[in-house]
Amino acid sequence: MLQAGVILINRTGQPERVVSGMRPTGRLHLGHYHGVLKNWIELQYEYDCFFFVADWHALTTHYEDDLSIIGESTWEMVIDWLAAGVEPGRATLFIQSRVPEHAELHVLLSMITPLSWLERVPSFKDQQEKLKERDLATHGFLGYPVLQSADILIYKAKRVPVGDDQVPHVELTREVARRFNYLFGRDPGYVQKAEEAIKKLGKKGAKRYREMQSAYLERGDQEALEKARALLEENQNIAIMEKERLFGYLEGGGRIILEEPEAILTHASKLPGLDGEKMSKSYDNIIALRDEPERVAQGLRVMPTDPARKRRHDPGDPEKCPVWALHKVYSTDETKQWVQEGCRSADIGCVDCKQPLIEAILAEQKLIQERAAPYAEDPTLVRNIIADGCERAREIAGETLDEVRRSMGLEYY
Ligand code: TRP
Ligand code: SF4
Repeated sequence: MLQAGVILINRTGQPERVVSGMRPTGRLHLGHYHGVLKNWIELQYEYDCFFFVADWHALTTHYEDDLSIIGESTWEMVIDWLAAGVEPGRATLFIQSRVPEHAELHVLLSMITPLSWLERVPSFKDQQEKLKERDLATHGFLGYPVLQSADILIYKAKRVPVGDDQVPHVELTREVARRFNYLFGRDPGYVQKAEEAIKKLGKKGAKRYREMQSAYLERGDQEALEKARALLEENQNIAIMEKERLFGYLEGGGRIILEEPEAILTHASKLPGLDGEKMSKSYDNIIALRDEPERVAQGLRVMPTDPARKRRHDPGDPEKCPVWALHKVYSTDETKQWVQEGCRSADIGCVDCKQPLIEAILAEQKLIQERAAPYAEDPTLVRNIIADGCERAREIAGETLDEVRRSMGLEYY
């Protein structure tokens, strides 16, 4: 558990940013809640978080479908975020297509991204295999990790919470950022400017910087690199531009215009669905975040259990039972012990076993429903939250884009 309420600050004095996007899949389920959403909710206390609906990403694979669903799914999904506890006062919530800056950065990054990097991204082939019925031999689909890079880099995000399938995309983002900085972070006179900035570190500071820089560049001394970074971080006398230049120069590269982000791995929730298989919309076995209580209770009552317990007096093994997987998430230690003993000795029946679970899930959902109610009743509330979020996102995205244009020499109008 992360410590709540302390916002982390980066080396230029800004709060560190987190960016993550979710495709508009409509109503979310308990698997999303215990996987992605709880993670987002924790992060919003530590970081300046940007969470967005990745509606353009949905088009990369679903462009042939009825697209009117995207809008509907978007609003339902945002209500679910809010109902789960994402707070618009802490996190910036927006819709990708309403921040067109992402598209401009995508175009610019696409110019410098080698085709071979994209062909190597595992999801490119995997998804084509998996979604055979769709034609994914499109420019948009191939370039989708570049769009994702733009989504992340435009906010200079430090961290990106994603599932393991998305980690290669964050890796690609790092490579694209590095390439961009290499190509465009070396403005004319770059070495000279860096040398001048070094002098501003003071006599002793400059000497230490140079020593540690050569220790790193000549011998790969990682510790020296860390020490030099700390030296720069502490320094109060030089401007942010110069600091960035010196961070880049330290590693032999140019000025760092785009920050390399790191993935935070969100462990996929292993929550089983109502048929005992992994909970997933495509298996039609989900418990939606805002489901009807009666449907949830009934679904759990008929959920399969350890097949060894054909009759009430047959002992069972919780490890072979999907209901136990839910107990692990929802029940107290005491209840869990009662399940373990009662199941193995056949002291309790499956109906008894499910009862505390049904109660725990319904209690959790009651809170979620209560939080969702005002938003579900008055759609303008959600529209306003998103409008505010888009505005803030555009402001920051615009700043990065200005820097990007400037460093590429695109300011001749
Ligand atoms: N590609 C992600 C997915 O399909 C969604 C996404 C788009 C994303 N842009 C992002 C996630 C930026 C993290 C950061 O799930
Ligand atoms: Fe599963 Fe509980 Fe039945 Fe055991 S008693 S088989 S854990 S539902």
